[in-house]
Amino acid sequence: MPQLIVVMRNGEEKTITGEAGLSVMEVIRDAGIDEILALCGGCCSCATCHVHVDPEFAAKLPKISLDENDLLDSSADRDATSRLSCQIPFTDALDGLKVRIAAED
Ligand code: FES
Repeated sequence: MPQLIVVMRNGEEKTITGEAGLSVMEVIRDAGIDEILALCGGCCSCATCHVHVDPEFAAKLPKISLDENDLLDSSADRDATSRLSCQIPFTDALDGLKVRIAAED
């Protein structure tokens, strides 16, 4: 199974494995990491699954949608690496992906 590296808000790194086909948000949540609230359950309507993605993987990610872009605009911690983790399908091609959990808004 592909691996995902999650950088917590305190800087601690956790390497977890995730099933391809789940979203990155679901992989993080299923690993018991509770810094991702994912309040809307992955419907792209809450932005509480905001992460910063390692730029090395940017080209492998699906294009950002207008809805995702608008939601991210509501976050003070947004930067060029920001994505909503529920909008990233986790695949074998993303093995080794590193994401940093964004600051709480
Ligand atoms: S879980 Fe709500 S936008 Fe991702």
